[in-house]
Amino acid sequence: MSMLDFLKQEMIDSEILSGIEEFRRRYPIKTTTLSRCPRYLYYGKAIWEQAAAALLCGENILLTGSKATGKNVLAENLAAVFGRPSWNVSLHINMDASYMIGTDTFQDGQVTFRPGPVYQCAQEGGFCVLDEINMARNEALAVLHSILDFRRVIHVPGYG
Ligand SMILES: Nc1ncnc2c1ncn2[C@@H]1O[C@H](COP(=O)(O)OP(=O)(O)O)[C@@H](O)[C@H]1O
Ligand SMILES: [Mg+2]
Repeated sequence: MSMLDFLKQEMIDSEILSGIEEFRRRYPIKTTTLSRCPRYLYYGKAIWEQAAAALLCGENILLTGSKATGKNVLAENLAAVFGRPSWNVSLHINMDASYMIGTDTFQDGQVTFRPGPVYQCAQEGGFCVLDEINMARNEALAVLHSILDFRRVIHVPGYG
């Protein structure tokens, strides 16, 4: 069963479903980078509709709630139904700008840029799951602000 069939079965609003289908037509994807089938299906019509509607409006989503309320499951499901690859970046205490965006590395006798997960995700038009964002330290937050607010820009020091 496809993810869209699952959502039809869950009686998700038909306008939202056609919005998702339109989104997928407008943003086709290389099959190699498509997100895998989610491990579990997410159940909850109201949350599905709120989350999908927000994404269709081009918004980011903040998921808050106790442990094991299906936040990661929902994120995986959303990437699958919108037909996007997804990246999971855990914002633990050691996560900094150079890890998220990328950093210089030495390769074949040259200094080159090695992209990090947030950079790769942006390039592929993926869904980026910024996990445990409440744990992020200030340096990581500075990066997140420029990505998540109206600017939607990633500055890579030394690379423009
Ligand atoms: N609404 C839901 N639909 C499907 N599974 C759910 C739901 N809520 C909780 N779960 C289950 O809870 C477990 C934890 O989910 P997870 O996404 O890791 O939680 P969180 O990220 O909120 O801590 C999973 O095994 C998932 O199957
Ligand atoms: Mg989680």
